[in-house]
Amino acid sequence: MEKLNALLIGGGNIARILLEELCHMLGKVYYFDFRKTGLEAEYLESFEVPEDVDVVVECAGIEAVKQHALEVLKAGRDLYVISSGAFAYTEFLERLLRELENSESKIFVPSGAIGGLDIIRALGKRVSGVDLIMRKPPVSLGYKEFGSQQRVVFEGRVEEAIEKFPQNVNVAVTLLLAVRDSKRINIRVIADPSIERNIHELVVRSSAGDYRITHENRPSPNPRTSYLAALSLASCIEKRFERFVVGG
Ligand SMILES: NC(=O)c1ccc[n+]([C@@H]2O[C@H](COP(=O)([O-])OP(=O)(O)OC[C@H]3O[C@@H](n4cnc5c(N)ncnc54)[C@H](O)[C@@H]3O)[C@@H](O)[C@H]2O)c1
Repeated sequence: MEKLNALLIGGGNIARILLEELCHMLGKVYYFDFRKTGLEAEYLESFEVPEDVDVVVECAGIEAVKQHALEVLKAGRDLYVISSGAFAYTEFLERLLRELENSESKIFVPSGAIGGLDIIRALGKRVSGVDLIMRKPPVSLGYKEFGSQQRVVFEGRVEEAIEKFPQNVNVAVTLLLAVRDSKRINIRVIADPSIERNIHELVVRSSAGDYRITHENRPSPNPRTSYLAALSLASCIEKRFERFVVGG
């Protein structure tokens, strides 16, 4: 199998999981971060896209996407973006889309910590509504004291949810990019004292069928990042090499 040379933006938790998951297919790996993180790859002190790099993978944060995405496209490389929250900045997104029009590059946005995007994509305009119901322990929503009963603490549009719950911005924006119409998305946040981990439910209604997916994500070594987010990024990169492609 041909090996993939990659530049990782961010050398933290997700980068580490990627190196483990993709060790069978990675060749030369560089990483750019504010500081050396001990990642087993060649450290770049300042951002550049080395000549021998095939793809660039962002696993750093929203600001990193805003800082470097355009340069990656101008360098003619494909870019994988896990911090999809960057695409909530519409002017930035439009600039990237304009750049892509005259470019050989592609941007890949993996599903990250949310599933069911394959269903949403296949259904396309047949989707009439999508609910994302996020059930969280009250303490993770900032409540110090909370009664014993669960309560809806937010219900509304995805744009408002992005502002009020920045810790879920990547999931919300990835969903919005998949559905393409915020009017068809309803976000509900429930504070539930009976649970210890977040439970997210995605409900999709369409003329072709109705779907309900429950997510009980386990954290990765970085407790703010679900394991699934890193694994989904690895699987998205792996797909690049497949000649027998299943699902999606
Ligand atoms: N799409 C999803 O569902 C999803 C889920 C979880 C996390 N994420 C995204 O993944 C990102 C990385 O997660 P992680 O667990 O690896 O975090 P982490 O904190 O373990 O690692 C991030 C690394 O990136 C570096 N970094 C941050 N900003 C940078 C910049 N502007 N330029 C260069 N390096 C920079 C940090 O120094 C750190 O070493 C998160 O910030 C989040 O935006 C997305």
